[in-house]
Amino acid sequence: MKYLFLNHKMNLSKNEIITYKNNFPQETIEDLEVAIFPSAINIEILSDCKVPVGSQNVSNFEKGSYTGEIDAEQLASYNIKYSLVGHSERRKYFQETNLEIRDKIKRLQEKNIIPVLCIGEENKEMREETLKKQLHETLNNLEIKNLIIAYEPVYSIGTGVLLKNEEIEEAIRFIKKVIQEECQKSFPILYGGSVDEKSIYTLNKISNIEGFLVGKASLNIKKVKEMMEIMK
Ligand code: PGA
Repeated sequence: MKYLFLNHKMNLSKNEIITYKNNFPQETIEDLEVAIFPSAINIEILSDCKVPVGSQNVSNFEKGSYTGEIDAEQLASYNIKYSLVGHSERRKYFQETNLEIRDKIKRLQEKNIIPVLCIGEENKEMREETLKKQLHETLNNLEIKNLIIAYEPVYSIGTGVLLKNEEIEEAIRFIKKVIQEECQKSFPILYGGSVDEKSIYTLNKISNIEGFLVGKASLNIKKVKEMMEIMK
């Protein structure tokens, strides 16, 4: 199975998401799971969509007095299949810690929502050290049923900066090794950061990744169609 996950971030107003939904490709591709991660306010508009819907975030708390938050039970009640956790923008702008991310993974598992754990280094020199710390502090001693990892080097997100395929392949090999140590299991690993209808052509040749997490290019239906076509 390959994955193409579309992260809208804080984009698309009501009319724009309706147009997006109406123009979204109708055909499904065998062994390619395409999922949309809209802004939370647009989740309901996509609830009759043929493709699975994911959340960009979840509260680390269970339901109650936490103004502005959305809990895993609420997400489950909208049939949310996946939720991003620990996206670098959440870590950077909302000071999200590995401990909170760990709690989010627990909350999601309790409601059978598959966590998509985002990890990635801020600079190349710190790559293995950062990835190991992020994986250890979020997963250590947790009983993980289902998980997807999104490897997104922070300096590649929204910048057009791309790593060489060999470099990504090596980073993924390292992530797989650490996950095996922490969880004694293996999980799908996606790559993210400036993936679009052009870069995906080369990135798709990397043998040890299971798919992509796409930000900016996911807002453009024509680009989404082209990316699906390449991953076919
Ligand atoms: P980008 O974002 O594709 O715009 O670089 C990716 C992400 O943040 O998930």
